[in-house]
Amino acid sequence: MQTGISIKSVSKTYDNGFAALDNISLEINKGEILALLGPNGAGKTTLISAITGIVSTTAGHILVDGFDNKRQYRQARKKIGLVPQEMSIGAFETVFNTVSFTRGLFGLKPAPKHIEHVLRSLSLWDKKDNQLRMLSGGMKRRVLIAKALAHEPEILFLDEPSAGVDVELRRDMWRLVEQLREQGVTIILTTHYIEEAEAIADRIAVINQGRILLVEDKHELMRKLGKKHLLVEFKNAVHELPNELDSFDVKLSEDGTKLSYTYDARADASGLSRVINILSSAGLGLKEVQTKQSSLEEIFVDLVNNQTTPDTQSASGGAEDKTSNGARA
Ligand SMILES: Nc1ncnc2c1ncn2[C@@H]1O[C@H](COP(=O)(O)OP(=O)(O)OP(=O)(O)O)[C@@H](O)[C@H]1O
Ligand SMILES: [Mg+2]
Repeated sequence: MQTGISIKSVSKTYDNGFAALDNISLEINKGEILALLGPNGAGKTTLISAITGIVSTTAGHILVDGFDNKRQYRQARKKIGLVPQEMSIGAFETVFNTVSFTRGLFGLKPAPKHIEHVLRSLSLWDKKDNQLRMLSGGMKRRVLIAKALAHEPEILFLDEPSAGVDVELRRDMWRLVEQLREQGVTIILTTHYIEEAEAIADRIAVINQGRILLVEDKHELMRKLGKKHLLVEFKNAVHELPNELDSFDVKLSEDGTKLSYTYDARADASGLSRVINILSSAGLGLKEVQTKQSSLEEIFVDLVNNQTTPDTQSASGGAEDKTSNGARA
């Protein structure tokens, strides 16, 4: 696998003394989609700004497709498209011209066909002659994405692309990301919608307080840190659980109609079938049994809070992985 971006021991302390990045090292492969997750103030935008050369780093160095982003700034910057978190966009220029102009800034010849393709894929073509001030917030965000793609970058940064956008734009964006991935574009995305990372990323990096907590293949991460939950609904309310269940991580709902059992996603099914057997042998009628995989969101929240056991009750809203008989442990 070729390296697209290589970040070596990068730190950033802002002028006021705040250390926003603390010794970050990270390799990003060509053609991969990396989601950078972290709470507000974690350092995501600072890291992107450091790579794109918008903020200067205090220590370390960064290579973009082999170019040092300080000494070879122009070559490095040309590889990169950036959709910034903050909107900064003109008012009176038209959509087409502003996107076209951005391409020119990189010293490239005009390419109206390419600009047309980009605008069409973002459903902006019918607005191409509109002045920017006439656009809604979501449309302006589309223009920012179009501007980032104007010079056909090999690496695209999307800093919170779906903050405050409607479902349709989010879908458009996911489609576009998929197209760009097929063209081999490397994509680095920050998002607070963890299901977005779950849907489109290949790898997940979690950053908190300026440090990388982990970088892991998405499926591997979910397999390693994911928990599974067995959810049982009883035919009649249960007031006391069999003693044999004491050694299992089971919880009975207050009204006694539901039981949840949390287990390691890597474990084999023995615990699961034991729990079901114990319940059946005790003569407790089961109305419904299902299993559920903990979501990336739960894993993320746990990581950031430094906890290891996800709370079963917080499982709602997670990635559903329901099976009718709970046999997929
Ligand atoms: N120009 C600056 N001067 C001083 N501190 C700054 C500056 N810019 C950012 N910071 C601080 O650096 C930290 C990281 O900010 P950054 O914008 O990188 O976070 P983020 O992870 O992108 O957060 P968010 O999810 O809110 O976008 C924050 O504590 C922020 O207050
Ligand atoms: Mg940010």
